[in-house]
Amino acid sequence: MEYAVRFENVGFYYPKQEIEVVDNAITAVRNPDEITQVFNAVTADLPAAMMSLVGQNGIGKSTLLLLAGARLFPHEGTVTIFGTDTKSFVDAAVDPELEQERNRLVSFVYQNMEFESRASVGDLMEFVYENGFYETDEGALIEDIKRAFEMERFLHLKTQHLAKGQLQRAIIAFSLLYGSRIIMMDEPVFALEEPQKDRVFAFLLDFSRSRGIPIYYSAHNLELTQKYSDSMLLFSRTGDFKIGPTAQLFNREEIEAAYQAPMDSLYRRDSLYREVLLRSHVGKEGESQA
Ligand SMILES: Nc1ncnc2c1ncn2[C@@H]1O[C@H](COP(=O)(O)OP(=O)(O)OP(=O)(O)O)[C@@H](O)[C@H]1O
Ligand SMILES: [Mg+2]
Repeated sequence: MEYAVRFENVGFYYPKQEIEVVDNAITAVRNPDEITQVFNAVTADLPAAMMSLVGQNGIGKSTLLLLAGARLFPHEGTVTIFGTDTKSFVDAAVDPELEQERNRLVSFVYQNMEFESRASVGDLMEFVYENGFYETDEGALIEDIKRAFEMERFLHLKTQHLAKGQLQRAIIAFSLLYGSRIIMMDEPVFALEEPQKDRVFAFLLDFSRSRGIPIYYSAHNLELTQKYSDSMLLFSRTGDFKIGPTAQLFNREEIEAAYQAPMDSLYRRDSLYREVLLRSHVGKEGESQA
């Protein structure tokens, strides 16, 4: 099968985080002497397709996306995106030209992304498209996205004035308008209402298939990951993973083995997790508005 990203003998770890309470404030303190090994000698070809990442909390979904998206770099081995070694982008954080080159190759929608803008969402969409890398005229794409994502009501607003669900739709819109060759999305829609998640993901699947732009994503919503992906990357509970067509890999046996839990309880857990993510973001105006 055609692949987009290749992991070769990849090792990756974080310094261990410990929680410390000082003056009643809780902070995560890093202890560089101890590490959390997330990947060890991982070799895998990731398909050029819309792929969902599925697995238990803390198993490594975000880390894998960050490695595949050249936002983190392996301590051992190599990650290549369409043949380009991500190590060539190590300095992207301090070199705007290199950062642009990386973003042209791969866009990243971070979990819980927030930023302030001077321009309105509508103007930002135009700006991203004009500064992006589509080689053909894709002007109609802007209107298509606005419609599919139901953005009309907040196009005139700045990003800092959006409700979380609106901001998530805006950020996904920007990622599609930039014209990167591949896109990573980490929990991109948790704040959306269910029917809206469906509409956004139906659009993403069609976008990915019709344009041949792979999209890899994690979502704490099993139904979504099943319905809207052609491939699936399923983590076992020990942290290894399998990749295969969703139609084959998404079955009760595989999922229950991966989570060590009955399927029904997993569907309930999805909605609990949504509550947790939403609670970390309260008090924005218009929060309940679509
Ligand atoms: N910045 C960090 N510093 C230290 N440890 C981290 C950091 N980010 C993640 N980890 C640890 O690395 C492991 C993998 O985490 P990761 O966030 O990739 O998992 P995940 O599958 O995305 O989890 P979730 O389902 O909660 O989103 C976990 O043990 C986590 O605690
Ligand atoms: Mg994660």
